[in-house]
Amino acid sequence: MKVDVLLGLQWGDEGKGKVVDVLTPRYDVVSRFQGGPNAGHTLEFNGQKYVLRSIPSGIFQGDKVNIIGNGVVLDPALFKVEVEALEASGHDLTKRLYISKKAHLILPTHRLLDAAYESAKGDSKIGTTGKGIGPTYTDKISRNGVRVGDILHNFDTKYAQAIAKHKAILAQYNFQYDLASIEKEWFAGIEKLKQFTFIDSEHTINKYLADGKSVLAEGAQGTMLDIDFGSYPFVTSSNTICAGACTGLGVAPRNIGDVFGIFKAYCTRVGSGPFPTELFDNTGDTLRELGYEFGSVTGRPRRCGWIDLVALKYAIMINGVTKLIMMKSDVMDAFETIKACVAYKINGNTVNEFPFEINENTEPVYVELPGWKTNMTKVQKESEFPQAFKNYLSFLEKELNVPIYIVSVGPDRDQTILRK
Ligand code: GDP
Ligand code: IMO
Ligand code: MG
Repeated sequence: MKVDVLLGLQWGDEGKGKVVDVLTPRYDVVSRFQGGPNAGHTLEFNGQKYVLRSIPSGIFQGDKVNIIGNGVVLDPALFKVEVEALEASGHDLTKRLYISKKAHLILPTHRLLDAAYESAKGDSKIGTTGKGIGPTYTDKISRNGVRVGDILHNFDTKYAQAIAKHKAILAQYNFQYDLASIEKEWFAGIEKLKQFTFIDSEHTINKYLADGKSVLAEGAQGTMLDIDFGSYPFVTSSNTICAGACTGLGVAPRNIGDVFGIFKAYCTRVGSGPFPTELFDNTGDTLRELGYEFGSVTGRPRRCGWIDLVALKYAIMINGVTKLIMMKSDVMDAFETIKACVAYKINGNTVNEFPFEINENTEPVYVELPGWKTNMTKVQKESEFPQAFKNYLSFLEKELNVPIYIVSVGPDRDQTILRK
């Protein structure tokens, strides 16, 4: 069997959590391969809403195996909060959630470093989630990280060495902090983590594949936040793209199957950085209100704009997307007309290919399509799609050259339409 990958094609928050939950019944295993608690993946079913940050979104579908892969960075304190909230609502995870020994730990000082670096950047700050993601991946790459497996081997020394290095950096930044209180929560998190089984997940996953079991890899963030191909430096610190599933799980490229690329019918972004189709007018406010575009983790209002097909084509190319998934169709229900960016104008030249850099000189070139003016939230099958909506889908499929396999018409698990 192969690993299917589901990932975001825009700037995150496309609706990955919802669709992983919907697709999980088809799989034996669901695994996160990168990112950490900067993610907020929302799932809704039976009138309940859950936001997952480090735990894979396959956790609510029976007793499927869920794995936190080696490419993930894990904060024990936040993990404890997340697990305990699920335990309080009756979900015991210890028998079906496994953690890679090679996943790196977000130390209490990583969060402090994140804050120190951001404040030093002043106006050019990234607008990170403040969860210590960048500093943790920095330590991983510079070979100073502490891993989940280290909890079982000489942990105190490794922890103390890392903290000493971080304190020296924080002193250079003249950053004030109270480590004792965050350390207390963090060590309580380590105790919680120890209730789970730490595994060599690369062996486990490859054995599952050899035994004919199916695996769904769940991406976090989105392609435009990828460390290599996103809108650098306004990106996250991991490879959010399909290749990240290979390194983040220990799976060979030839063992990747379908690549599900997920996008909103419009576009959003949280934090700083360029966003060519961003709307600063009433339309942007309407998208934010109707789409309830506020961060699942931070509550920050999301910046909203029209769909950007130049960026989407780029994301489809980088990821080798085989099936597209369009979310939040219902948010556009009331619009008379809908715009889609089909090219950029840069210094008077029309550009169809995603450039080295997008910035304030990148102007979107739009086509305008008729809206469907229909309540999509009640639509249950493809035959009920209004004609204008069908036309919109055909337009996108023609532009993007990949079939739209799933259409989402509301936040609930049941508001999901699989197409033939
Ligand atoms: P993720 O990070 O990609 O999992 O996405 P988030 O959970 O951060 O953000 C997606 C938001 O949109 C959540 O609040 C979902 O409940 C909601 N959502 C998902 N699909 C739909 C949809 O089709 N329509 C509407 N109106 N909301 C949706
Ligand atoms: P999900 O998985 C949206 C953004 C932050 C910031 C940049 C870097 O829910 O789609 P970081 O804390 O990673 O160093 O922040 O990336 N960001 C996200 N935006 N959805 C996410 O995750 C994000 N994770 C990080 O806002 O601009
Ligand atoms: Mg999110």
